[in-house]
Amino acid sequence: MESLEGWKRSHTCGELVGENSGQVVTLMGWVHRRRDHGDLIFVDLRDRYGMTQIVFNPENKEIFQKAKDLRGEFVIAARGEVRRRPAGLANKNLGTGDIEVTVQQLKVLNRAKTPPFEIDENIEVSEEIRLKYRYIDLRNASIKNNLLIRHKTAQIFRDYFNRNNFVEVETPILMRSTPEGARDYLVPSRIHHGRFYALPQSPQTYKQLLMTAGMDRYYQIVRCFRDEDLRADRQPEFTQVDVEMSFIERDDILAMVEGVMTEIFDKVLGHKLEIPVRHLTYAEAIRRFGTDKPDLRYGMEVVDISASAANCDFKVFTEGVSSGGTVCGICLSGGAKYSRKQIDVLTAEMKHEGAKGLVAIKVGKAGWDSPLVKFFSDNAVAKINDAFAAGEGDLLLIFADEKEKAFLLSGSLRTKLARREELIPDNEYALCWVTDFPLLEYDEDEKRYVARHHPFTAPMDDDRDHMESEPAVARAKAYDLVLNGYEIAGGSIRIHDREMQDRMFRLLDISEEEAADKFGFLLEAFEYGTPPHGGIAFGFDRLIMILANENSIRKVIAFPKTNSALSLMDGAPSNVKDSQLAELGLKIL
Ligand code: AMO
Ligand code: AMP
Repeated sequence: MESLEGWKRSHTCGELVGENSGQVVTLMGWVHRRRDHGDLIFVDLRDRYGMTQIVFNPENKEIFQKAKDLRGEFVIAARGEVRRRPAGLANKNLGTGDIEVTVQQLKVLNRAKTPPFEIDENIEVSEEIRLKYRYIDLRNASIKNNLLIRHKTAQIFRDYFNRNNFVEVETPILMRSTPEGARDYLVPSRIHHGRFYALPQSPQTYKQLLMTAGMDRYYQIVRCFRDEDLRADRQPEFTQVDVEMSFIERDDILAMVEGVMTEIFDKVLGHKLEIPVRHLTYAEAIRRFGTDKPDLRYGMEVVDISASAANCDFKVFTEGVSSGGTVCGICLSGGAKYSRKQIDVLTAEMKHEGAKGLVAIKVGKAGWDSPLVKFFSDNAVAKINDAFAAGEGDLLLIFADEKEKAFLLSGSLRTKLARREELIPDNEYALCWVTDFPLLEYDEDEKRYVARHHPFTAPMDDDRDHMESEPAVARAKAYDLVLNGYEIAGGSIRIHDREMQDRMFRLLDISEEEAADKFGFLLEAFEYGTPPHGGIAFGFDRLIMILANENSIRKVIAFPKTNSALSLMDGAPSNVKDSQLAELGLKIL
């Protein structure tokens, strides 16, 4: 290995162009590919900025010999003259494709073993291997570019909030455990045996206390930890852009968020967002799209046909309605091409999601091509076709079930079919606010109501008086920002008086003792002058995933964990020494 002594990099591998020809330059980077043509050796030299072709010719024997020994991923420094490539040999796909560098001096700074996979994202390599050697996978342009998008977006967030008088404040990573929602990650205390810190699921209580403190406008790009079941859009540790403001109402926060989203889309993608962002209430989102995070890039809206379905002779429908449920579904345009078998598979998939069944009706030239048609009057068929705006060749897919469940099943089928039938346009961004969420939801396991967002969320003014008498219908001053079917931010106006917070805890069946034990510090703070306040938190990784056009957040996190929360590279979580456990007063069961 040779030393760098006396050498300075003059350019990166991504910047030399025709105008540099004649200059002597020093480049440093990794051997991406070496092509030995016998009389000439070409090396694609790669660094973060790009790739430059360097050329070795046999005139300089010693260096030519050295070049013969170069292998993929060797780290080298090369000094030589920039030359325009001969006519016709320019590489249009490469920023530096007009030139090459004829090497006069070479240093091998470090050798490399043959990597476990080529630096080429298009070759098939299992995700496990890529994650185990993440530092090699990060040499790939696409995944590296994702980190650059992430960096740039973080800068835009910071710049925007700084300009708008927000203060970035760091909040503790070791806090007290207050499980509500996901499971906490716990950290045992060495000094206080039997006691534990928790890693924050979000800095929610701290940011509210910063409002009590008079900070007025706060933000933080902050790591959050949740021990929950993972999916493509969830990691055990993830990043929020966390925001809180005092003396504001909901629309002040929404406007602030729309402002920063506009800048991000403009600066990262060159895309003009339509502002103001469209609003849907939770109830409308469920009714029309069967989900609280609707993807508005395509239609195929859910249609409620309960009224027509009540007046037919098909028992599945009539009983569905008479038992207080809903009959609704979607119309797949051109779906009549589906075979019996395909429909059976779809039915089985939906049953797996909890459907009792799935009615599939092919729309023909004159009415329905379905044995069910005998149960419906011509008038009912026409009405239902009308409601779905269905025409010849379409397929109606209908569920009868309890009210919300029928909508949710329809929404899930809508998403599934849009993906399968490739109905989702590329490079479109559909943002919407979903507002007026239910305040509470019933937890069947715990047999009590839990907060739909979190227990600090204020009820809507109209619902304050009957939240105890009609907990199921009370709505919250909560809002989510939805982008292309992903919830990318969520927030609320908070409760800021002690009495209301006490009422909320009672509603959640949290006893006075428990509330005092877990949240006493917050309740007490409410008694020392807490202003009206509210905020929001972005799921930063999810936002970057969409900006980077990826379908997993693992692609936009430098060192992500697997779906079973493992870090394959460093092997976390790992066993620890008995002496470490003893020090913490712990024993493994
Ligand atoms: P919430 O729980 O909705 O709100 O989280 C805010 C946003 O964080 C993202 N998110 C996740 N991203 C990746 N992996 C996860 N496991 C994960 N969990 C959540 C989502 C979500 O919209 N304190 C409140 C915010 C507030 O009220 O101001 C909170 O944490 O994109
Ligand atoms: P059955 O009367 O159970 O034989 O069902 C007749 C057809 O209706 C089958 O295609 C079932 O998949 C479908 N079906 C049954 N229950 C429901 C339901 N609740 N919603 C939609 N379709 C159903």
